[in-house]
Amino acid sequence: MAYFITFEGIEGCGKSTQAEILSRALQAETGCQVVATREPGGCPIANKIRAILLDADNNALVPLAELLLYAAARAQHVAEVIRPALAEGKIVLCDRFTDATTAYQGHGRSLDLALIENLAQLATGGLTPDLTILLDCPEEVGIKRAMARINAASGAREERFEQESLRFHQAVRKGYLKLAAENPARFIVIDGTRGIQETAEAIHNAVVPRIPQG
Ligand code: TMP
Repeated sequence: MAYFITFEGIEGCGKSTQAEILSRALQAETGCQVVATREPGGCPIANKIRAILLDADNNALVPLAELLLYAAARAQHVAEVIRPALAEGKIVLCDRFTDATTAYQGHGRSLDLALIENLAQLATGGLTPDLTILLDCPEEVGIKRAMARINAASGAREERFEQESLRFHQAVRKGYLKLAAENPARFIVIDGTRGIQETAEAIHNAVVPRIPQG
């Protein structure tokens, strides 16, 4: 049965690992087909936009251009991947979605929240996740993990956001927590400071009862 789940959180919160684990579990347990995808990206054109957005050489990208690129990538991804999968009754699990834009471009970069909301409506045609998992952890913990990951994968170019100041990531985290407080029926906030297995179990226990049967 069609169901749209998103994963959100600051850098290094562990959401990509957890999204993968949940995707495998849901596929095995529900018998439903699960489409695991991510933003920015998720299809060839949006992946090209992702490369522009995350390239450390593109520090000159102004906040408004950045916002519009996220919206463009999302419009393509929604039309090409997410809507068709939901129309076929699949579970879609997306690593970041519109809440990321509110948190990063809105609360992090102080762009106008009403403009961001309007662009989200435009890019998605009003598509809202059924459920959003916010993996919350202090910015110091997240940055430390993200830096360790970048150092391990030497030569990685997707590092523009990890280079941001601690204050930026603090604002992003606050933005996410505000979104969760404003949308309690949609959000589940999970402590992201624990180990992978413990966190996976907490997510599994929170998500599985919500998946519609049939
Ligand atoms: P990732 O770390 O989940 O791969 O995401 C890549 C970066 O893109 C991350 O630093 C957050 C950022 N981002 C935004 O700033 N706005 C958005 O709308 C999305 C989807 C991601």
